[in-house]
Order: sequence, then structure tokens, then C-alpha cells
Amino acid sequence: AQQIPDILSSEFAADPYTAYRVMRKDAPLIWHEATRSYIISRYEDVATAFKDGATYTTDNYEWQIEPVHGKTILQLSGREHAVRRALVAPAFRGSDLREKFLPVIERNARELIDGFRHTGSVDLVDAFATRFPVNVIADMLGLDKADHDRFHRWYTSVIAFLGNLSGDPEVAADGERTRVEFAEYMIPIIRQRRENLGDDLLSTLCAAEVDGVRMSDEDIKAFCSLLLAAGGETTDKAIAALFANLLAHPDQLAAVRADRSLIDRAFAETLRYTPPVHMIMRQTAREVTVSGGTIPAGATVTCLIGAANRDPDRYRDPDTFDIFRDDLNTTTAFSAAANHLAFALGRHFCVGALLAKTEVEVGVNQLLDAMPDVRPADGAEFVEDGVFTRGPKAVRVTFTPAG
Ligand code: HEM
Repeated sequence: AQQIPDILSSEFAADPYTAYRVMRKDAPLIWHEATRSYIISRYEDVATAFKDGATYTTDNYEWQIEPVHGKTILQLSGREHAVRRALVAPAFRGSDLREKFLPVIERNARELIDGFRHTGSVDLVDAFATRFPVNVIADMLGLDKADHDRFHRWYTSVIAFLGNLSGDPEVAADGERTRVEFAEYMIPIIRQRRENLGDDLLSTLCAAEVDGVRMSDEDIKAFCSLLLAAGGETTDKAIAALFANLLAHPDQLAAVRADRSLIDRAFAETLRYTPPVHMIMRQTAREVTVSGGTIPAGATVTCLIGAANRDPDRYRDPDTFDIFRDDLNTTTAFSAAANHLAFALGRHFCVGALLAKTEVEVGVNQLLDAMPDVRPADGAEFVEDGVFTRGPKAVRVTFTPAG
């Protein structure tokens, strides 16, 4: 069999897709010593792991994310998870999003684009993608604009912590410091907000009640911390990748420009082809058989979303970016019926999928309007970075500036 580069090597980081191909075909179940986990890569195996939450638990998050976020919805299971999900989910449904938060999303996109629409050239990653979703979340929560910079610092630290697969102690220590700083910042704001409820997301979380259960200050703080990473980093990479993919396929870019309803398809295909989250871990509650091999009880399993989403047993011509493909369910990209795995499946299916879709629609529409002839800058290459989360390092473009 062909050599498979280690998932922590620079060779793998430069091109995981070639390695994914070999893994899916020849080594669909691998023991990985450095992360002490079993790696799975086939669509069926990864989808099963997400859907069967009783067998593939999220107990691993107790060490993977708890040190930086505290106890979040991701670590919960069973009824506890169902109640917590029912407490937070309504805020991310269509009606609340449209009525309360669409104007917030539109304003945040416009403010960032105003910063470069007259320049004629920009790096969309630096000037837009990395800022827009975090600004939106901070704004939805009703936090002070002046604090957005602090948010960006915490966000960067949390992301580094989550992606620290090799266990760098400095990165780990910085993440834990961020948990303390974030709590010192957030808990007093939550207490004040309880006294003075408004129309923002934080007030909604403070007031939410299901079966007589409410969230504690600590629960809300942990959820906000999770939102920073789960809603920031991911949507950021999706927007950058969507533009990189369209710019690399000018005919598809032209089609989307002419018919903006195709943004949905471009988003879904981007999530399949270049998912922001390439790997997610689970912990087995019992021994399981996967693609002919055995994983013992209590083991950590690394589920390769990036590999599963390009499984030729699931998608025709999987290494081709094609927004018109008919084997991808684009219309239900925001429910558990979505068939790419970028939002996972099952009980932890992304709560923010509709928010992400709305941000992408608004952001991409405004960007296309502001850059009527957007094209890659001279010599620009859209090089991807990251193995845990992954997206283009930069998307440098030029365009005729607004008059
Ligand atoms: C869960 C991806 C946007 C909030 C998840 C999971 C994935 C994911 C893969 C499952 C994690 C697991 O099962 O271990 C993405 C992607 C996004 C995105 C690719 C953008 C394109 C957002 C946004 C928010 C958000 C904008 C903010 C509201 C959450 C939350 C969970 C979650 C709270 C946990 C749900 C639960 O445990 O029940 N997301 N996400 N995500 N996401 Fe997203």
C-alpha cells in the first residue's frame, strides 16, 4: 500500500486530499500514536459515528475543549443535552434570525466592506472573513463595539488551543488563560443583563426556560465562549473558501453573480469540497467494528470530515468543485438531512447552520455587489492552511473600485 503521511506532518498539511484518498481506499481504520486515536475516513463510517451518539460519545470533549470553554453543550448527552439544545436553539431559528439579527448581519458586512470598496484590491481573509462572523456574534450578544478587539484576541487563542493536536504547552497555557479572562469579562455582563433584559441574544439566553430549567451564569458564559469558536472560525473559513473556489472556477462565479439564489449551492458545495472543520473526535462507549477492523471501548476516534466528504462511494467525481452537482442535497443544508458532513449529523448537528448560511448569503451578496469584476490578484494563489480546521491563508483579489 502507498505510504500515508502522518496527519501531524507538514506533508499532510500541504495536501491532505491525496492522503485521504489512500486512507479511504487502503487504510479506512488507522491507529495514530501521537493523538492516541483511531482515524476513520469513509463517508459511511464517519456518518455512522455522528448519528450513533450512544456509541460514539462526546466524552472526549472533557479534555479537548473543557479547559478552554468550560462545560458546553457539546459535552452533554441524553436528556441534559436535549434540554440545553432546546434552550439555545430557538435563538438560531429562521424567525428570530430574520427579525432580530438580519439587520445586524447586514450592517456588519457593510461596515467591513466600506473599509476597502474604494481600494480596488484586498485580501478577503484578512479584511473580511476573519472579522465578519466574530463581529456578528459579539453584536448579536449585545456586547460593546469597543470590546471587539479583545474578542478577536480570545478567539485566536481559543482556535489555537483547539487545533493544538501536537500538545504545545504554551498554546495550552494561553488557552487556559483565555478561559479565565473571558469569564472575568463575561460573568459580570451576564449578571447585569439579567437585571436589564433587552432584545439581544444574551438576554434571550438569560431568559430562556425549558421544563423549569434555566442556564446558570457559567452555562451562558461557556456557550458564548463556544460561539466564538464554533461560529467564528468556521464561518470565516467557509466564506474564504467559497470565494477561493469560485475564483478558481470563473464560469461558476459568473453563474452565481448572475443568479444570486445559487449562493446556497456554492455554500453547500464549498462545505462538502473544502469543509472548515476537517476532523472531529469522539469516544467509544463500547467495542465497535468499522470497515472490517475493531475499535475497543473507551477509545478516541478521529473522524475525518474532509475525507468523508470526498468519498467516491458517496459523490461522483468527488475531487471536482461543482455547484451544479445533483448528488448533494443543497436545499436542506441546514437540517440534519444535509448530506455532506461539514455540520456533523445527529444530536450535535450544528446549531448555527442557519446563521452561517444567512451570514454567507449576506456577505457574499454584498461582496459581489462591491466588486463587480472581482478576480484573483496578480500571482495570487489560494493556499490552504490547517489540518483540524482548514481554509485559505489569503484570498487576494483585485476589482474596479467603487466610483
Ligand atoms: C456544532 C460546524 C457555524 C454553533 C457544530 C459541529 C460542526 C459544526 C461540525 C458538530 C461538532 C461535533 O459534533 O462535535 C460548523 C460549520 C459552520 C458552523 C462548518 C460554518 C460554516 C456555526 C455558527 C454557530 C455555530 C455560526 C453559532 C451560532 C455551533 C454550536 C454547536 C455546533 C453551538 C454545538 C451543537 C450541539 O452540541 O448540540 N458546528 N458550524 N456553528 N455549532 Fe457549528
